[in-house]
Amino acid sequence: MLRKVFFSLLVLIGLPAAAAYQLWPSAWTINAPMPNDVLNWGTDAAPDRTLQERLHLPDGFQINRYAVGLGQPRIMRWTSGGDLLVSIPRKGEIALIGRDTKKTGRGGAIRALLTGLNRPHGIEIHGDYLYVAETDAILRVPFDEATGMLTGAVERIITGLPADGNHWSRTLRMGPDGWMYVSVGSSCNVCIEKDNRRAAILRFRPDDKVAEIYAEGLRNTVGLDWDTQGRMWGVDNGRDLLGDDLPPEELNLIAQGRFYGWPFLYGNNVPDPDFSRTADPRITGAVPPAYGFPPHMAPLSIKFIHGPVPGLQNAALVTLHGSWNRTRKQGYQIMSLRWEADGRITAAPFMTGFLKDEEVLGRPVDTTEGPDGAIYVSDDYAGAIYRVSYGATAAAAPAPAEPAAPATPEPEPELAAPQPKAEEAPDKPGETLQAGEVLRGEALFDTAGCKACHGGTTPPAPLKDILARYNREDIARLLATPPANMPSFAHLKEDERLAIAAYVLATYE
Ligand code: HEC
Repeated sequence: MLRKVFFSLLVLIGLPAAAAYQLWPSAWTINAPMPNDVLNWGTDAAPDRTLQERLHLPDGFQINRYAVGLGQPRIMRWTSGGDLLVSIPRKGEIALIGRDTKKTGRGGAIRALLTGLNRPHGIEIHGDYLYVAETDAILRVPFDEATGMLTGAVERIITGLPADGNHWSRTLRMGPDGWMYVSVGSSCNVCIEKDNRRAAILRFRPDDKVAEIYAEGLRNTVGLDWDTQGRMWGVDNGRDLLGDDLPPEELNLIAQGRFYGWPFLYGNNVPDPDFSRTADPRITGAVPPAYGFPPHMAPLSIKFIHGPVPGLQNAALVTLHGSWNRTRKQGYQIMSLRWEADGRITAAPFMTGFLKDEEVLGRPVDTTEGPDGAIYVSDDYAGAIYRVSYGATAAAAPAPAEPAAPATPEPEPELAAPQPKAEEAPDKPGETLQAGEVLRGEALFDTAGCKACHGGTTPPAPLKDILARYNREDIARLLATPPANMPSFAHLKEDERLAIAAYVLATYE
């Protein structure tokens, strides 16, 4: 009798609920009541005064909020009409922030320009088209920069980009050579990819429907840009799970047909402990990085500065989104790199203070120079775009006066040049998460049925930015005493819950 009641209940409640999860409309993903949306954990941009007090900028620069309430804004692109386009992958949206007509230093009305896209990230404007990189496709749509209006229908010119596994973001940049470049990160932390378009930079002609491979062995080069000589530079996110202090994140000078080492080598061509016995003909010709950032800082964008911004001649800004795979957080700042006359690359902090005593105020993603000469910064943690200007008033045009030396207001972690081979200790097990445990967690994640609701990018509950909000114990606890709508996994043993937690942290950074 009880069994009958149980099964009827299962059929009456369970099946429709399961079906609802499967058929969850994609619009719901966007507004899925994940805890940080509901409880607003870390999602409100700080007021201007707090930003001004807490953030450190070189002398003469100041900061104010240009636009807020954007959710998780990522890549920005100005139109020639002065509107600012921004991708909001989690909402499937490209938003348009209206131009600052009254020169107040604040953006105008925000409206959705394109919606319903599959994790749109990179944005470019070329000819009469707006180009957008979704996780699995490149689309373009006729766009009038003067009015900020779409003037035609969306056309997906390249489809079938590999989209499973990790590293969903696709960077899209129009090169000075007339090619359009797309960066596709690896599907995993370290592995040998089946699809050679992973961990690579692809390129295509803006009117073509096929992309070719341009450079390989780049684990996840989210940011790329060209210097005034037309050389392409990319910032690459190194592998995880080698402990707090390995490997350096990389700046690479990227050239056609070259191989940059992943997954066989990291940092200054140090053999990766997981692949030390793998032979690959490309290993001998692998190009080492030109510069190394401290481990786990997660560089997302590099932009060469073209305007007369004081202190930033021959320089680029690099956003460091911030670590997840580290005992103490590191990154959460913007750094300037300068190319010295003798060819050396030197670094200085440009914007710090988002991170204080392990507490996070924001996470910089992208920078762009505005039509007014100010630097604009997107923050996908506080849902904001900031304006960093030089001069007396918030809206003043930059005064190209004496170049101000970048200030060093607080002790920063040592900037690491790529380490020489002998000094590395690659087989030291990771201090935070161990690879073996992550693999065990991955298998458990499968068998416990987590994928039904958290399978990659599928609804109803895509896991995202987990590290900013949880540590391992938190996740293990959450599995035993889950939030509403999530079943309890109290039947798993504590060490199994911890292994799953290790996998979740390693995967949903
Ligand atoms: C039946 C669907 C379902 C299953 C199965 C499920 N979850 Fe969840 N999970 C949810 C939902 C829904 C939320 C969001 C809860 C909320 O917003 O209140 C969630 C939230 C989470 C979060 C917090 C996410 C965040 O952004 O804060 C984590 C971590 C998580 N789940 C991990 C897991 C793991 C690991 C498993 C497998 C052991 C699992 N879940 C199985 C539905 C599920």
